Amino acid sequence: MTPLGSRLDSSSRFALDQHLPADFAEQALRADVLAGLSATPKTLPPKWFYDARGSELFTAITRLPEYYPTRAEAAILAREAAEIATETSADTVVELGSGSSEKTHLLLDALRDAGTLARYVAVDVSESALVEAAAVLLEDYPELVVHSVVADFEQQLHLLPADGQRRLFVFLGGTIGNFAPAGRRAFLAAVRACMRAGDHLLLGTDLVKSPAVLVPAYDDAAGVTAEFNKNVLRVINRELKADFDLDRFAHVAVWSGEHEWIEMRLRSLGEQQVRIPTLNLDLTFREGEEMRTEISAKFRRPGVTAELDGAGLELRRWWTDGEGRFGLSLAQSAG
Ligand code: AVJ
Repeated sequence: MTPLGSRLDSSSRFALDQHLPADFAEQALRADVLAGLSATPKTLPPKWFYDARGSELFTAITRLPEYYPTRAEAAILAREAAEIATETSADTVVELGSGSSEKTHLLLDALRDAGTLARYVAVDVSESALVEAAAVLLEDYPELVVHSVVADFEQQLHLLPADGQRRLFVFLGGTIGNFAPAGRRAFLAAVRACMRAGDHLLLGTDLVKSPAVLVPAYDDAAGVTAEFNKNVLRVINRELKADFDLDRFAHVAVWSGEHEWIEMRLRSLGEQQVRIPTLNLDLTFREGEEMRTEISAKFRRPGVTAELDGAGLELRRWWTDGEGRFGLSLAQSAG
């Protein structure tokens, strides 16, 4: 489908497709906040953590001693990138969501060294993040064509450019854990639907482990994750003119053994009223009321295999870090 906007730079090494209307973020935030805060219990989707401040806080989280997933996944990629290159012979890397550039570099280096790399396609809702990342890659990889796609990868995967003979779709960081099971099914089915013969999917999943390790990873001693969690309230205050008092909410991270996911919540410290005038919404929070802001599901290999299988994807390779904390799957269309 034709993008809303397309730009090509003079060297033809960079193209950007814009699939989101200018007011997409504003309208999506309004709809999410209205639906989530009118529900019982109240919820907010995690994607609104990531304004400039939230993205910086997340980067700080990845450097915390307690937050192991980023380091564990990077260790697997550092060890297996050459193998991934041999196994996939990919000419195109299609990255869903803004991955850390460090991890992207590990993959691109290996594919360049294998001699197959031609193109990098990045899909994200943030045009500024895409343009910044593209500038770095264009400089670091003088032969690489970079195609940035501003789109919502939850809804618009069918709009991806078709370039490439052997594409490697990558979804790293364990971000698939932000979806509940039904959302994961829909997402994997949508990825599968845009894959062609010879394409692969590289999927990062954090693994089930002791709550003694998991909970501190989401409730660090320095309080960075607490700030990150409360940042969603800052975003809503700024964008929707709400009057959340951040000091009257406490960060909570709990492990659900039933669902095998971490839940982040914000707990109301006392009974309080919050007004969101732009949504004409008046809210009451009871003393101790908890609002869910994120789930971060943790996985086991059989579950990952089954979920891939359910989407018509066959697990070809499975790697973990030395301590078995994080899993990286390489899958291909079945049949
Ligand atoms: C970016 C979604 C993978 O779930 O671990 C980090 C986000 N939340 N600390 C995760 C997050 C709290 C992170 N993902």
